[in-house]
Amino acid sequence: MKKIVVMSGKGGVGKSTVAANLAFTLSKKGYRTGLLDCDIHGPSIPKLLGLEDVRGVDSKEGKLKPVEVDGVKVFSMGFMLPSRDTPVVWRGPVKHKFIQEALQNVDWGELDYLVIDLPPGTGDEVISIVQVAKPEGAVIVTTPQSVALEDVRKAVNFSIHVGVPVIGVIENMSGMLCPHCGKPIEVFGAGGGKKLAEEMAVPFAGSIPLDTTIFRSGEDGKPFVRTDSPSAEIFEKIVDELLENMKAIEEELKKIKEKLEKESKEKEKAKGEKEEEKKEEEDEK
Ligand SMILES: Nc1ncnc2c1ncn2[C@@H]1O[C@H](COP(=O)(O)OP(=O)(O)OP(=O)(O)O)[C@@H](O)[C@H]1O
Ligand SMILES: [Mg+2]
Repeated sequence: MKKIVVMSGKGGVGKSTVAANLAFTLSKKGYRTGLLDCDIHGPSIPKLLGLEDVRGVDSKEGKLKPVEVDGVKVFSMGFMLPSRDTPVVWRGPVKHKFIQEALQNVDWGELDYLVIDLPPGTGDEVISIVQVAKPEGAVIVTTPQSVALEDVRKAVNFSIHVGVPVIGVIENMSGMLCPHCGKPIEVFGAGGGKKLAEEMAVPFAGSIPLDTTIFRSGEDGKPFVRTDSPSAEIFEKIVDELLENMKAIEEELKKIKEKLEKESKEKEKAKGEKEEEKKEEEDEK
């Protein structure tokens, strides 16, 4: 099972929307997929998928059971909270334990991909989740506003720091197609995400426009990739890009590992030969 975390330096940029739609696109491509909502304070996956009334968990042999939506196995921290309106006031260690529990005890069965929606920012909770989950890739979501772009820099540096490769930066709410003339309007500007990704030497996966279909799908509890909209088509290409980048990074890491293993074997061999020579010299004496 390969784990992909969806993160951002700033809240409200569309992480949960990207995470949910990434999971449904992977499932549509034939991969066995799970979606884990790790946001304790603001779990939004239940709302985005119409699961707001799911409460409690069907535990089998001490395992937490995910809810299946159109073939995607979904588990949200929200399912474990007492009610939709109860704010979480736990302190750090309790939260850490809760996160650990949900990450290790959910009964996912056999999965190809697990998409993990993270809380905003790069704080303690995000560090806890990343440490426990050890994801193979990170997707960073940003918006074109310059403040958000400063934050994405933080998110990229965080990924590098915790050793999770960035498989793609996505610029969300990037321009909008005019409903009247169909031409793009750059509401908050556009292109900053790509520039920043290039600057930081991480892959750019694509831009998603500001689109009322995306907003409405979220309100109606249905993934927008299931609609017949231009944004759904754009998103599929973004997912292809993410998968290609992930594969390229995996191959690169494999090569580095093989190179290191070869070097270490050669070193061992040289060391053995040296010791042998030394022994022979001593024997001769
Ligand atoms: N491209 C888009 N076009 C229109 N609306 C969008 C788009 N992307 C996201 N939204 C809407 O913006 C709101 C915030 O999105 P979302 O909940 O995915 O953000 P988030 O980064 O997960 O937020 P948080 O930091 O609170 O977890 C939602 O109402 C969502 O439907
Ligand atoms: Mg969210």
